[in-house]
Amino acid sequence: MENLARGVLGIPPGRTIVRELDIAIAEHNDTMTGAQRMTFAYGVDFGTSNSSVGICDAAGPHLLPIQNGATSVPTALFFSFDDDSTTFGQEALERYFQRESGRYLRAIKSVLGTKLFEETTQVQRKRYGFSEIVAAFLRFLRSAAGDNLTAPPTSVVLGRPAFFVDDDPEADATAERQLEAAARAAGFERIAFQFEPIAAALDYEQSVNSEQIAFVADIGGGTSDFSVVRVSPERARSSDRRQDILGFAGVHIGGTDFDRQLALARVMPALGLRSPLRRKGMNAPLRYFHDLATWHRIGFLYDPNVLTEVRGVLRDSAEPERIKRLLAVLEQRKGHELLAAVESAKIELSQADLATLDLVDCALDICLQITRTQLEATVASSLHRIRSRIDDVLRMAGLTPDAVSAVFLTGGATRMPFVQQTIAAAIPNGRLIAGDVFGSVAKGLALDAAMRFADQ
Ligand SMILES: Nc1ncnc2c1ncn2[C@@H]1O[C@H](COP(=O)(O)OP(=O)(O)OP(=O)(O)O)[C@@H](O)[C@H]1O
Ligand SMILES: [Mg+2]
Repeated sequence: MENLARGVLGIPPGRTIVRELDIAIAEHNDTMTGAQRMTFAYGVDFGTSNSSVGICDAAGPHLLPIQNGATSVPTALFFSFDDDSTTFGQEALERYFQRESGRYLRAIKSVLGTKLFEETTQVQRKRYGFSEIVAAFLRFLRSAAGDNLTAPPTSVVLGRPAFFVDDDPEADATAERQLEAAARAAGFERIAFQFEPIAAALDYEQSVNSEQIAFVADIGGGTSDFSVVRVSPERARSSDRRQDILGFAGVHIGGTDFDRQLALARVMPALGLRSPLRRKGMNAPLRYFHDLATWHRIGFLYDPNVLTEVRGVLRDSAEPERIKRLLAVLEQRKGHELLAAVESAKIELSQADLATLDLVDCALDICLQITRTQLEATVASSLHRIRSRIDDVLRMAGLTPDAVSAVFLTGGATRMPFVQQTIAAAIPNGRLIAGDVFGSVAKGLALDAAMRFADQ
């Protein structure tokens, strides 16, 4: 497993693998069942789109209510300009959609390990660093989930994707350090990490009644993460699972990428993407459209300097009607609302063959029909990368697809029919099992936390 971890994570031989700890889980608490592993430690699934908190008590691993009884909340913050307050989760989303004036932030996990993390974001007269923003959100999760406990725990197992950043081990390690520092600032003292697809496997294992080789797919907002794990009720009692984790890996593709691809393909051309400037051979700069289609970059477009630039593009444009739409969205700060409408159409297409994308509320005179086939064609290259990562994981595990008997699905994007078909095509004989889409990872992290922090 050590070599596998080095291979999977791209860590050069000789360098300490902090992640071994993650895989080893704990060395004590050997033969307890989930229900017996009582501890006062959280499992926190800080997701790109949604976050959850789990705990393991006498009833076994379960999710804690965070806001109005909801156990999964949007990973969102809202800085109000009206009353200077900061709100989180569902409340942040509601205040943004009620058109309160302020600054809305989504997908902050995507900033970990990137250059953007060092930048600050302007909120009224104050500038906030992303370290403070991530810490504030974790502090909110810690205290909101602790409302029904005597006090919020100070020990936590945080989930992490196989890769925060693809093909850059150094940036990936930086991302983990940034998240750890934010957790410390949020009041956690003992902090450990576990891979999200391993946590999901631990959750799935709670429901099996015989030994099997399971392929776990966790496809969320930011990443697709996979593991191949030998699971059984007996093995679930052991704390050292190194021999049972046959492979794990991931790729930085998730639902937010599908949103971006759909927005760029269907909406942005009407806002001036690839529209000509009056200077021959030049088009409107791509970056505005790219940022407007990328959840964690939208806020940067509201910077007064950017607005001035876009007004300049409008003056130079040979097709000003299109650029005027872009400017209207930016001036009225409708970027997140626009991308949320695209996301809703994407989600609708998991159930229906046709969805209507009406952007009238986003300062735009645009109403489109999108078919599931069109969405599938738009995201085809991502599906291809997901498929090849699945093949890689099976190869790492030294298994042919028919050695896998169960395919456990978690993460919102696994609801998409063509994502399921992509996984099923790679593992044709595996039985597809729909997990708790938004809760499996946090429950698995809670189980892990109970084993690790048993002495707490
Ligand atoms: N029914 C659905 N059909 C298609 N996509 C969906 C559906 N429900 C949710 N999604 C998408 O799933 C994503 C969120 O899933 P999830 O909450 O599992 O991600 P996350 O845990 O926040 O992200 P990550 O694990 O990648 O950090 C979003 O992109 C959302 O649009
Ligand atoms: Mg997730």
